[in-house]
Amino acid sequence: MNFIGSKYLKENDQKSMNIIKTFDDYQQQYQRSIENPEAFWSDVANDFVWRKGWEKVLEWDFHNAAAKWFIGGKLNITENCIDRHLPTRANQTALIWEPNDPKETSRYITYQELFERVCQVGNMLRAHGIKKGDRVCIYMPMVPELTYALLACARIGAVHSVVFAGFSSGSLVDRINDSGCRMVITSDGAYRGDKKIGLKSIVDEALLKCPTVEKTIVLERTQTRVVMKPERDFWWHDEISKASTNCPAEEMDAEDLLFILYTSGSTGKPKGMVHTCGGYMVYTNYTFRTAFQYQDKQVYWCTADVGWITGHSYIIYGPLSAGATTVMFEGIPSWPDMGRFWHVIEKHRVNIFYTAPTAIRSLEKAPLSFVDAYELSTLKILGTVGEPINEEAWHWYDRNIGKGHCPIIDTWWQTETGGFMITPIANVTKLKPTFATLPLPGVQPAIMDERGNEVTENGVEGRLTIKFPWPAMARTIYGDHQRFRDTYFSTFPGKYFTGDGCKRDEDGYYRITGRVDDVIIVSGHNMGTAEIESAIDEHSAVCETAVVGYPHDIKGQGVYAFVICYDKPHEEDKLRQEIREMVAKIIGPIAKPDKIQFVSGLPKTRSGKIMRRILRKVAEGDVSNLGDTTTLLDPAVVDEIKAGAL
Ligand code: PRX
Repeated sequence: MNFIGSKYLKENDQKSMNIIKTFDDYQQQYQRSIENPEAFWSDVANDFVWRKGWEKVLEWDFHNAAAKWFIGGKLNITENCIDRHLPTRANQTALIWEPNDPKETSRYITYQELFERVCQVGNMLRAHGIKKGDRVCIYMPMVPELTYALLACARIGAVHSVVFAGFSSGSLVDRINDSGCRMVITSDGAYRGDKKIGLKSIVDEALLKCPTVEKTIVLERTQTRVVMKPERDFWWHDEISKASTNCPAEEMDAEDLLFILYTSGSTGKPKGMVHTCGGYMVYTNYTFRTAFQYQDKQVYWCTADVGWITGHSYIIYGPLSAGATTVMFEGIPSWPDMGRFWHVIEKHRVNIFYTAPTAIRSLEKAPLSFVDAYELSTLKILGTVGEPINEEAWHWYDRNIGKGHCPIIDTWWQTETGGFMITPIANVTKLKPTFATLPLPGVQPAIMDERGNEVTENGVEGRLTIKFPWPAMARTIYGDHQRFRDTYFSTFPGKYFTGDGCKRDEDGYYRITGRVDDVIIVSGHNMGTAEIESAIDEHSAVCETAVVGYPHDIKGQGVYAFVICYDKPHEEDKLRQEIREMVAKIIGPIAKPDKIQFVSGLPKTRSGKIMRRILRKVAEGDVSNLGDTTTLLDPAVVDEIKAGAL
């Protein structure tokens, strides 16, 4: 490799300058990152291997939803995630893979092996005509080959678009077509607890409607019978056997696309969030090392699926660029029993464990004997992400998993932010249960009041915005910059609007209170109510639907659908079942409504807008004070809805 440009540091020389060990360090670095962001991020970015140094650190204009980082810099992220570790870490385990079935053998993949596999997959993709800039859809279970596939795309400059393997063929079609993918990488099937799910068959169905896809590569995982279409479908094992283990990395511009990842919005189709190479690499690495205070040789486990941003940033790119050992788990927390997570922690001697409040709440319901059966003393740090964590779950996690001595790192961030934004720093930030605490260096939050003014004091509540760019922020929505601007930069001009509400207490600590738009978070998965509504409307008996979230013991939020049918349903339960299946088919099982109430009308204003506030109250079971209903077209509808509440 020929490294030119900014300083080339030897492996393990991650800069002392930006390492935070004390709260004083944090305050000083935070201050510096605000006063001179360019110098601050330049120092952080100097920790990496660049083929060519950047000419300018930052250009931005939030009025036009624009930000560019490390302009003119050239790199390949895989040289930073793999190659640069080889002189010192070739034999260190990069990836520990824990299969769905505990009886199957775990796999330990060293950095050397990771290098070879990623190169082979890169060559396999090149042999099938994939080149820099092409979009490749990845629809796979949580197996090491999924990691290879992402990194191989990055190595040859192709743009990966991972679609969570729980999505239906319809969702796959939308995502493939929106970004015009040329290839789909998938597997015959996936294991999920004691179930087997056919993935290739879902891809086959999708591809009937995806004209841009020329080829698929199919990994054999479940030995499920699949139909292979000649000239289009190729077996991974056949193709990989022809590929060499040397795959020169494509030189990428810092602002070239690294990946697209779809996230639900409050309206319309999912948004393809675009992340670019340089800033994303710098930021995921920095935030991973800082928030978790990752120490060399520690074993780190993030339980997310790579189908979501958490898996991209904190199973793959952040940890691997930091030379960490990262665990990838194929299974689910409840199979073969509710002790599976704790078993895996014991088995792989996990030091840092990062999961979602939903998982904690469901495991909390199981007898403690499932926890006590395992040795968890290797744990040093715990993390949580995806939704607000409630007080009870926080304490249960602290007491029973952390045994009272592991800080809980409550990381607030989003698909759009690429990496952690507001989070404690392990053993540095004093914790407060349910608070994401303080912004990381470089992050400038601002709370806005109802009139759109920033509230600068402490002890306030409002809408959370960010007023200065950070390196991993999404650059656009693929193919629709106007929507990007409208969604994130128009509510509060000149600021990035997160869609979240938050409080800042007297100590300046942030507590995220949840979405303030029509996005609901079910089991940590973001879903647009509009998407679920249009799926329900596909049922021939349904005339109109309104979906809201309601508090759910385990999932955080559940899906509550108010449905108007053309004719009063005779068999309500049967229709409910059909509607659920319809949603599972169109979006995926995660979006199935928990409650379906049949109504004859919806509370609408005279201008025809559904007053969701009222529906939310009904769904929450709080009908005592529905606020002002005088502007409703037909106030009587509310009494009927209240009376029929589930
Ligand atoms: O509402 C916030 C919630 O999850 C949303 C982002 O979802 P997504 O893009 O799917 O990314 C999830 C993983 C980063 C946010 O707008 N959220 C995320 N983390 C937290 C959270 N809410 C409260 N506390 C958190 N730690």
